[in-house]
Amino acid sequence: MSEAVYTSICDALAEQGWIIVPDFLDAQTVSELHQLAQQRREAFHRAGVGREAAHQVRNDIRGDSVLWIEDHDEAMQQANARMAQLQQHLNRELFLGLAELEWHFAHYPVGAFYQRHLDQHRAQDTRVVTVVQYLNPDWHTDDGGQLRLYLNDGEQLDVTPYGGTLAVFMSDRFEHEVLPARRDRYSLTGWYRRRAL
Ligand code: OGA
Ligand code: MN
Repeated sequence: MSEAVYTSICDALAEQGWIIVPDFLDAQTVSELHQLAQQRREAFHRAGVGREAAHQVRNDIRGDSVLWIEDHDEAMQQANARMAQLQQHLNRELFLGLAELEWHFAHYPVGAFYQRHLDQHRAQDTRVVTVVQYLNPDWHTDDGGQLRLYLNDGEQLDVTPYGGTLAVFMSDRFEHEVLPARRDRYSLTGWYRRRAL
């Protein structure tokens, strides 16, 4: 794939702080990752809110389950390679000093949602850029599960979690939520982090 997509992501982040990229991953890779996530369904664990002692599972705040990624699978290596390329461009073009990508599979069962929140909420938080790679081949608007981004000008943007689409936004700038899904909703979700000071 051409390098142009990485540059256009960097340009959009510099200009407006977010971008939605359709077909960032090809359909074949998306379908393999979707299958992989479904096969490993039993290994997912419920995502919580709060850190360390304050950590708890709260269905009223978020209903997703997550699985940390291993990369012996070829489709996963493919996705990781794309994300590594993007990280390089973000560092070279925007000087973001990103040290690593931390990401995991996320599954929202029917009815699950994630209330409005910000990904970086404490000053010492090392999350810089949020990335969400959707893995749902053939998803329709009435299947719900949209990512609702609250943009800085008071506008809202609803993103359909369609397979291949990549959402990218600055972690400290945009509150967002996941609307209730009417079907199983899968993604790879994560954050480019800078090193802790
Ligand atoms: C998150 C999140 C958005 C999405 O996991 O923090 O906001 O569209 N996910 O899955
Ligand atoms: Mn989030």
